[in-house]
Amino acid sequence: DARPSILPSLLQCDFGNLQGEVERLAAAGTQVLHLDVMDGHFVPNLSFGMPIVEGLRRHTDMPLDVHLMISDPVAYAKPMVDAGADLLTFHVEAMRGKDAAETKGRIENAVGQIRDLGVGVGLAINPSTPMNELGGHVALVDLVLVMSVEAGFGGQQFNPVSLTRIQEIRAAFPNVMIEIDGGIKASNIGAARQAGCDLFVVGSAITDRSDYGEAIVELNEAMLA
Ligand code: DX5
Ligand code: ZN
Repeated sequence: DARPSILPSLLQCDFGNLQGEVERLAAAGTQVLHLDVMDGHFVPNLSFGMPIVEGLRRHTDMPLDVHLMISDPVAYAKPMVDAGADLLTFHVEAMRGKDAAETKGRIENAVGQIRDLGVGVGLAINPSTPMNELGGHVALVDLVLVMSVEAGFGGQQFNPVSLTRIQEIRAAFPNVMIEIDGGIKASNIGAARQAGCDLFVVGSAITDRSDYGEAIVELNEAMLA
């Protein structure tokens, strides 16, 4: 589906009632769930791993877009696919080698291993990382995740450098899927759409609200306005 869409992040939902949260999001029209996996090493925060992905998989048919904020995405790729992930996105910052050639080899290896598992592959970049670390790898992947906050925590403030980056990627790669993640709300989602973004991850602007349906309607209106 090529339509722009809003992907709720569960990071700040009620983990004591995950099934209920997924049901509320599905009732609000959600078509894809964004799952934020953090290892306390690549980022200074821990979230959840395979058991939660597997539990969610049993409660919904929605595609699971898994954002790996972990140091060793290759080691967890198969366990995540076995748990039910449909697309795995890893960070360029997790792939840094001793030189550009080693980094390139690591990225290509990770992309190849994920592809061999039969799922989509995404590559993410933090706002503080120079764009040349992404360049050269976009053509290998299905999706580029342009972070609009430093990965690690929900509820941070949107960094507008992401908009310029999306424009740049869109101009060079008309067909790659571009996803934005971090601090997205009704006040900036329209600008992200205009920059050329396809997929909008939204955490707190949905799960901090009492009515998820109303939040998603407002975001969709702001995106298309
Ligand atoms: C940040 C995560 C996000 C984020 C979204 O590391 O990747 O998916 O928590 O939450 P908000 O929309 O609250 O920034
Ligand atoms: Zn995310």
